[in-house]
Amino acid sequence: MRQTRLGLSENTRAVSAELLQNNLAEALNLRLAIKQAHWTVRGPHFQQLHELFDSFVAPLDAEIDEIAERLATLGGTPDGRAETAAGSNPYPLDATSGTAHLIALADRFAALGNTVRDAIEATDTAGDADTADLLTGTSRFLDQSLWFLEAHLDEN
Ligand SMILES: [Fe+2]
Repeated sequence: MRQTRLGLSENTRAVSAELLQNNLAEALNLRLAIKQAHWTVRGPHFQQLHELFDSFVAPLDAEIDEIAERLATLGGTPDGRAETAAGSNPYPLDATSGTAHLIALADRFAALGNTVRDAIEATDTAGDADTADLLTGTSRFLDQSLWFLEAHLDEN
């Protein structure tokens, strides 16, 4: 961690930096998954899903930028390399139907939503209300996106 005049203890900054890095990598991974879905979805609802998936990218990019820059602000070094974002759960290459993509993306939005929610709690407990606040915005976006995805999966 870099030295900084910022008025948070090094321990608090380190806790937040680690959580922000984890969420940065996961969010970058999700961004690529969304584009994969945007490019490969096929079927009767192609146009609508193609556009829906892409509508998540710009707001997610904004969250990613906030997360990386908060990490830098705290004295850390954001690691946004592809190798770091790769993760261990590759997006299904054989997914083509709208339903397959909706499920694959809904699973990923929900998982990141839970990771972010845990980080809100942990950063708040560590004394970094600003990072908790930032991540609360991220969480709200992820939850709303999950609603959009799940609404397409509901037959009732
Ligand atoms: Fe496109």
